[in-house]
Amino acid sequence: MPARPFLKWAGGKSQLLPELISRLPPTFRHYHEPFVGGGALFFSLWNSGRLTAGATLSDLNVELIDCYRAVRDHAEELIAALLAHKPYANDRDYFYAMRAWDRAPDFMARPLVERAARTIFLNRTCYNGLYRLNNRRQFNAPFGYYKKPLIVDPEQLQEASHALQQVVLRVGDFSELLTRALPGDFIYFDPPYVPVSATASFTAYTPVGFTEAEQRRLAELFFQLYDRGCHLMLSNSYTALARGLYAGLPIHEPVLARRKINCDGTKRGGVEELIVCSYGR
Ligand SMILES: C[S@@+](CC[C@H](N)C(=O)[O-])C[C@H]1O[C@@H](n2cnc3c(N)ncnc32)[C@H](O)[C@@H]1O
Repeated sequence: MPARPFLKWAGGKSQLLPELISRLPPTFRHYHEPFVGGGALFFSLWNSGRLTAGATLSDLNVELIDCYRAVRDHAEELIAALLAHKPYANDRDYFYAMRAWDRAPDFMARPLVERAARTIFLNRTCYNGLYRLNNRRQFNAPFGYYKKPLIVDPEQLQEASHALQQVVLRVGDFSELLTRALPGDFIYFDPPYVPVSATASFTAYTPVGFTEAEQRRLAELFFQLYDRGCHLMLSNSYTALARGLYAGLPIHEPVLARRKINCDGTKRGGVEELIVCSYGR
């Protein structure tokens, strides 16, 4: 069974994956994914044997990266912890009791595996599989009322664990790449998208949000790494702001993708996305 994302993540790239794969650089050294989310491209690269010089996955979200750490280092314990949650898959009170963990002062003192099992359980049982934090960094998506949510898929977690064995995992801002990326490395940027309209997009993965200033800061880093000789690929919404920030680069075209998670259900159809590459096809 191929390795694949073990979390459903807003902005997950499974739909756009064929477009990304058709635009990979022919060769590259180390792989970096600084907005890793569900990690769809990472798992795909692993499955096709392209990560010969290792990979670094990072994200600003601590619970997300700790979940990857638990899958990498403690897969069997994690599976056992999820099996213990499984009988409560339809229990609304249990869901809210689990959700409340991060309101307690000792939350971060809980064992890694317990916190990771909570993240996966909430991800499978919350409304729309939407990972959402309020401004106090507390998980606040409501109960999803799914009839039969899949709480644990042991084989999926074991495969993901296998793929992650040699991977470096980091919590941090994308700008840390400036000190880590080397010429010849390949970096895929999948930032929270520029909103298509004032209310259309979901960018609350982390409480800080991703403003226009953040988009500009990212574009600046993109061009710095371009000058360094890194291979770069970036996706964003097909908006005037995103087009303007990356104007002049070799590939710059709209691609139609289907979004699985959008806070506005009526906008869950096709959305034009932009893929920018620092190299030709
Ligand atoms: C669009 S999602 C990534 C989707 C992912 N590539 C996938 O396939 O599922 C964007 C991610 O960026 C992270 N993020 C937001 N601001 C960040 C920052 N300043 N530095 C690093 N990661 C950030 C969020 O936590 C979120 O996981």
